Amino acid sequence: MEKHIKTIGILTSGGDSPGMNAAIRAVTRTARFNNINVIGIQRGYQGLIDKEFLKFTSSSVSNTIQRGGTILKTARSKEFMTPKGRKIAHENMVEAGIDALIVIGGNGSLTGAQQFAKEFDIPIIGLPGTIDNDLYGTDATIGYDSALNTIVECVDKIRDTANSHDRIFFIEVMGRDAGFLAQNSAIASGAEAAIIPESATDVDQLADFIERGKRKSKNSAIVLVSEAQKDGVGGAFYYAERVKKEYPQFDARVTILGHLQRGGTPSAYDRILASRMGYAAIEALLEGQRNIMIGIKNDEIVYVPISRAVKMNKPINQELITVLNVLSM
Ligand code: F6P
Repeated sequence: MEKHIKTIGILTSGGDSPGMNAAIRAVTRTARFNNINVIGIQRGYQGLIDKEFLKFTSSSVSNTIQRGGTILKTARSKEFMTPKGRKIAHENMVEAGIDALIVIGGNGSLTGAQQFAKEFDIPIIGLPGTIDNDLYGTDATIGYDSALNTIVECVDKIRDTANSHDRIFFIEVMGRDAGFLAQNSAIASGAEAAIIPESATDVDQLADFIERGKRKSKNSAIVLVSEAQKDGVGGAFYYAERVKKEYPQFDARVTILGHLQRGGTPSAYDRILASRMGYAAIEALLEGQRNIMIGIKNDEIVYVPISRAVKMNKPINQELITVLNVLSM
C-alpha cells in the first residue's frame, strides 16, 4: 500500500445505476476491514467542492445492498469541470485528510477523475457505474444488467398490447452513444429489430423490420431504438413518422422508457459484480495501483487504465447483430 493512504473518499457521479449501493457497501466494508477510514462524499464531485462529507462506518452501509439509486446521491457537477472547481475540491480533500478517491460512475465521471488525478497527483480508483455499459475494458458495468431486465419486462408488456392492436412499436431506450441496451434487450424480448448508433439503418431495412413480424404471422412488430437524436428529434419519433408517411397501412406508436430504466432493485448479477468490484478497488489501492478502473473480463477482475476506459470506443459484438437478424426473420 502507498504508506500515506489512511483515509479514502468515495463518491458516485453522473447518472445513477442499480448496484451503486452494493459497490459503496463493498468499498466501505473492505476498507474498514483493512483499517482504512472512509469518508462518504455526497452529490458526486459537487460534494467535494461543497464539503458534503460523512464519516462512514460498516454500519453506514447496512441494509443497502438491495436498494436502487445511490445513498450518496449523485450529480453532474459543472463547477468540477473548471480548473477553479477542481482546485477547491483538492483543497477540501487535503483539509479532510482524504488520501485517495474511489469514483463510481460512467464515462464523464471517470474522465473527470482522470483530469483530477493528473492535476493533483491523487490516487484514484474508478468503478464502472452506468446502465449504458459503454466503458472500454470491461464486459459489464454496474447497473447494466438490472436496466436490461427492466427494459425486457416493459417490452413484454408492450408486446401484449401491440399484438392485440396489430401495431408496430418503436421503443426508445437509454444509451446516448452506445447500443448495448437496445441490441441486447431486442434479443431478450424477441423484438423484430434494434436501431443502434453503431450501425446505420436505411429505408429498405425499415420496411424489412415491419415485414418480419408479418412473416411470422405476428401482426405486430417491436423495434428497440437507442435514444440518439436523428434529424433533431428522438430516433423513435423519427422512425415512427417515417412509417406513418411511407407505410400508412401500418399503425405505428412510440414508447419512451426514460428514467424508469435507471431505477429499481439491482439484479443479483449487479449486486455480485458491484461487491467484487468494490472489494477489488481497495485491494488495488493496497497493491499501490492508481488511476485505474476496475473491470471484469471473462469473469476475472482486471485493471484498466482510466485513460483507456474512457477514450477507447467499446465495440458492440457483431455476433449480437447477426443473432438478432437471424432470429427475427
Ligand atoms: O449515462 C447514463 C444515462 O442514463 C444515459 O443513458 C442517458 O442518456 C443519460 O444518462 C440521461 O441523463 P439525465 O438523467 O441527466 O437526463
